[in-house]
Amino acid sequence: MPLLRKTILLLFIVSVFSHKSFYRTLNDGNKIPSIAMGTFSLKNPKQSVLMAVKAGFRHIDTAKFYRNEYQVGQAIHELIETGVVTRDELFITGKLENEEHDRKQVKPGLEGTLKRLGLKYIDLYLIHSPMATGVNQNYPNLGLLSYCLEHNIQVMAYAPFGFMVPRFVSYRPIRPKIDDPYLTKLGEKYGKDTTQIVLRYLIDRNTIPIPRSDNHTHITSNIDVFDFSLTQNEILNINEFNIDTKVYVLGALKDHRYYSFNTC
Ligand SMILES: NC(=O)c1ccc[n+]([C@@H]2O[C@H](COP(=O)([O-])OP(=O)(O)OC[C@H]3O[C@@H](n4cnc5c(N)ncnc54)[C@H](OP(=O)(O)O)[C@@H]3O)[C@@H](O)[C@H]2O)c1
Repeated sequence: MPLLRKTILLLFIVSVFSHKSFYRTLNDGNKIPSIAMGTFSLKNPKQSVLMAVKAGFRHIDTAKFYRNEYQVGQAIHELIETGVVTRDELFITGKLENEEHDRKQVKPGLEGTLKRLGLKYIDLYLIHSPMATGVNQNYPNLGLLSYCLEHNIQVMAYAPFGFMVPRFVSYRPIRPKIDDPYLTKLGEKYGKDTTQIVLRYLIDRNTIPIPRSDNHTHITSNIDVFDFSLTQNEILNINEFNIDTKVYVLGALKDHRYYSFNTC
């Protein structure tokens, strides 16, 4: 068995059973929900965030770049005002805009985000693009995840469905698709569909997937992944879909000094 695969297996054995819960603990002791609702390119951000939190999501991933902070904030306020959740039950992630990464741009960037969301604070403020990474079955990012796990760094996994779902940039004939026979077999074993198997795979690999959906049935399904776990062998089998191909390749930022899209 190659060394990297062995290392991942060992780390997995140590960690997976401590990550069955809905929350992870960050280095500073704060809790972070282990799945987030993605909001990039949602057709109706306010309605979708309302549906997501009512379905059980507690972590919302937004960004200035998504041009939806105002609508996401409206949903958050409505959820709080109608007693669905309190502010401290929610975990809101925002992002410092691409190309506004200079030190002096950070404070105004955050203040702008808070103003558009109508919030006094957010729970996590990421540097957009250079500090984010795609993780899915086509790009499991094993080396990076192994390092982060070892150093107790949580990784958020965007584009969790890889090429299982249609992509507006390019829809490529890359396996697995939504009707993949192996994922379907696992789905039958656990009483889940293939998208739920993939989300659970990412949670069991200690990442925080960020599924995005405008569809009520999909949103409800995406949060319904906390009553089962995959076996170590099943995780390793899904890793085999790796082809080191990313869903998002941000060519416009390739000269940025922290550009991470060429690394894994
Ligand atoms: N930090 C960064 O730089 C960065 C970069 C990219 C993305 N992100 C974050 O990650 C989030 C997710 O990435 P993403 O938007 O590329 O993609 P994604 O969640 O992998 O895929 C979204 C697509 O999957 C479909 N879908 C969702 N749930 C489904 C289900 N249960 N069954 C079947 N289809 C389903 C959605 O369609 P329906 O609407 O019809 O369900 C949509 O077409 C983004 O929204 C954003 O918040 C962060």
